[in-house]
Amino acid sequence: MRSSATLPFTLFTLILIPILPHAQGHSLLSPFPSALETLQKQLGYNFKTISLLRRAMTHASFSEENNKALSILGAAVIETSASFHLISKDIDISAKELNRRLSQVSNVESSCAVDGVHLGLHKVVRVSPKTNSSAPAVVCGAFRAIFGAIAIDTGKSDDAGNVFWTIHGVGDVGVAAAL
Ligand SMILES: *[C@@H]1O[C@H](CO)[C@@H](O)[C@H](O)[C@H]1NC(C)=O
Repeated sequence: MRSSATLPFTLFTLILIPILPHAQGHSLLSPFPSALETLQKQLGYNFKTISLLRRAMTHASFSEENNKALSILGAAVIETSASFHLISKDIDISAKELNRRLSQVSNVESSCAVDGVHLGLHKVVRVSPKTNSSAPAVVCGAFRAIFGAIAIDTGKSDDAGNVFWTIHGVGDVGVAAAL
């Protein structure tokens, strides 16, 4: 008597277990959470606290819970990591040259927004209807905020810096030899 009642349940469970994770990973997710999943794969980094990435992808025009502060931290993470690698590579680098390289790495138009668009952040970042999500300042803010968010998530700025170099590429600032 017992087996006739539990068998359908067992079959149901056996069928459902392999299906559920896939269903959650795709069709059941709304576009924003799904975009965050994709973004994590692109970054090669999985957040312990996904709300940090959600906040990083939220412009100030959209919500009070936005990426402004994370973006400031992210810019500092990028500069610190770049300074570290440039000076490790050449201890005699001049202040002028160091500043020149740093401004290249953090330039909004030519570096930061370009990296952000490569990741498709203009399609992910949440903005108010009046705000252009492709504006370099918006894309750049979201891009920098990713590294602020990773630093908070890991409790270390080094990890965030390393993710930055894998995204940005090391060639154009000449830090490859130091990595
Ligand atoms: C949004 O910004 C991008 C990048 O600056 C620009 O190319 C585009 O024309 C803008 N779109 C609108 C609707 O203003």
